Amino acid sequence: MIADGLARSKAWQDLQRHRESLRARSLRDIVLADADRLARFQIAHRGLRFNFALNFATSETVDLLAKLAGEQKLEEARARMFAGERINSTENRAVLHTALRQKGDAPVRVDGKDVIPEIRATRRRMTQFSEDVREGRRLGATGKPIRHVVNIGIGGSDLGPRLAVKALAPFAKRVETHFVANADAFELLSIISKLDPAETLFLVVSKTFTTQETLLNANTAHRWLASKLGEAATARHFVAVSVNQKEVEKFGIAAANMFPIWDWVGGRFSLWSAVGLSIMLAIGPQHFDAMLDGAATMDDHFRTVPFAQNMPVMLALLGIWNRDFLGSSALAVLPYSERLRDFPRYLQQLEMESNGKTVTRDGHSATYETAPVIFGECGTVGQHSFHQWLHQGSDIVPADFIGIVEDDLNEPEHHRALQANMAAQAAALAFGRPQAAVPQEIYPGGRPSNLILLDRLDPFHFGMLIALYEHKVFTQGVVWNINSFDQPGVELGKQMARSLETTKAGIDEKDVILEQVFRFVSGR
Ligand code: F6P
Repeated sequence: MIADGLARSKAWQDLQRHRESLRARSLRDIVLADADRLARFQIAHRGLRFNFALNFATSETVDLLAKLAGEQKLEEARARMFAGERINSTENRAVLHTALRQKGDAPVRVDGKDVIPEIRATRRRMTQFSEDVREGRRLGATGKPIRHVVNIGIGGSDLGPRLAVKALAPFAKRVETHFVANADAFELLSIISKLDPAETLFLVVSKTFTTQETLLNANTAHRWLASKLGEAATARHFVAVSVNQKEVEKFGIAAANMFPIWDWVGGRFSLWSAVGLSIMLAIGPQHFDAMLDGAATMDDHFRTVPFAQNMPVMLALLGIWNRDFLGSSALAVLPYSERLRDFPRYLQQLEMESNGKTVTRDGHSATYETAPVIFGECGTVGQHSFHQWLHQGSDIVPADFIGIVEDDLNEPEHHRALQANMAAQAAALAFGRPQAAVPQEIYPGGRPSNLILLDRLDPFHFGMLIALYEHKVFTQGVVWNINSFDQPGVELGKQMARSLETTKAGIDEKDVILEQVFRFVSGR
């Protein structure tokens, strides 16, 4: 069945008419015709600035988009999420990553039970554990202090913590943190081959504790550790983060060495929970709290500010404008910061696993486009690679530029180069160069972009940035009428792999992979 409720709504149709009325105009013309646009098309809050002046949008576009959010009942949906209602309808779960960073003890109830006390109790355990490891009170089996932490997890149990630990590296002390996600043992082996097992702590992070890649890596790491220090050493060198205590114990990690998470935290929204233990071990509990405070600040902004001045709401709505009305099928994410190098990868999961769906909440097929392809790279690195395509390729692809205003950790000369390049790229993409001596040197321009500026890349602003995109994803899911919190599309491949692995002729036999696939598909 087709769902065209959104496409038939008044706001959507008004936006379509509005889009037609802009057909004759160029981005250059729209931007330059509007003198105070730079200041007006900007939302600033506590050291984070979102400037959307370089979008193919007028004040009328902004008003119509805000109306669309109203018609799609964003306010009501937002209230339901914060109140702990089971808005993840296919999995019948609440969605409460916001409770993990809530300031104060106001109760947040799921089916009448307040979740705040267990969040606080787990945070206290994480804090104690991190301090004990960092201060050398919790030692390895041979009495040596822990110097290396290896986080074994994948998807949401890897990408957020991996991003945070790199982004906040200057705040890290005492332990060095490593991440292993891939089922290819090369990743794990190339890390542990350089480590002393007596100084190494493994965090096995898996919400379900059934994820194949994570268990493969955890088992291999366990064999390595036991072969070096003996089986009894496991208890001092393995810690788990999971919902699933039964599977954790089956693996051989005692409940005392397990940190809980809950079914109301989605994997890709979980870095604020014990899934972020590697972050706390790296930067310490105080900086971890500052990261939570930054996110809580963004939560307050998202909850209280009118749509047209609301940072995540406008980021989301302009994304919908680009996707559904201007026809862009991708979004380039371009952080001008080495420390944010993993941000595009992180956003790929956050946006594409959340909103890469075409069946609506009520089970109909959407008649409009949903999540675009997210890709990206550190600004100046990407400039020497795919920016050619951004400037002169056949597709018009919008970009999110992410910059850091002050960076005392960078060499001033390098920092200035980053700033200049970022501004130059945004301007060149938007305005192009309409005339040139040879046609190949013409730049069409007309490529819109957002500019997101963090005063500093510290735990607080980092927390704000991540929460900004989380709420963007939520807002888009509400408008598109899809459930952003399940991921049914990843299951089929998992099931097929499991069944292929158990067939007699294993796919590790040379040259039989395609044969296996065809046999599987044809059911023979
Ligand atoms: O396969 C997708 C997925 O379920 C993600 O949603 C999740 O973040 C990842 O796998 C890891 O899951 P887990 O934390 O249960 O190991």
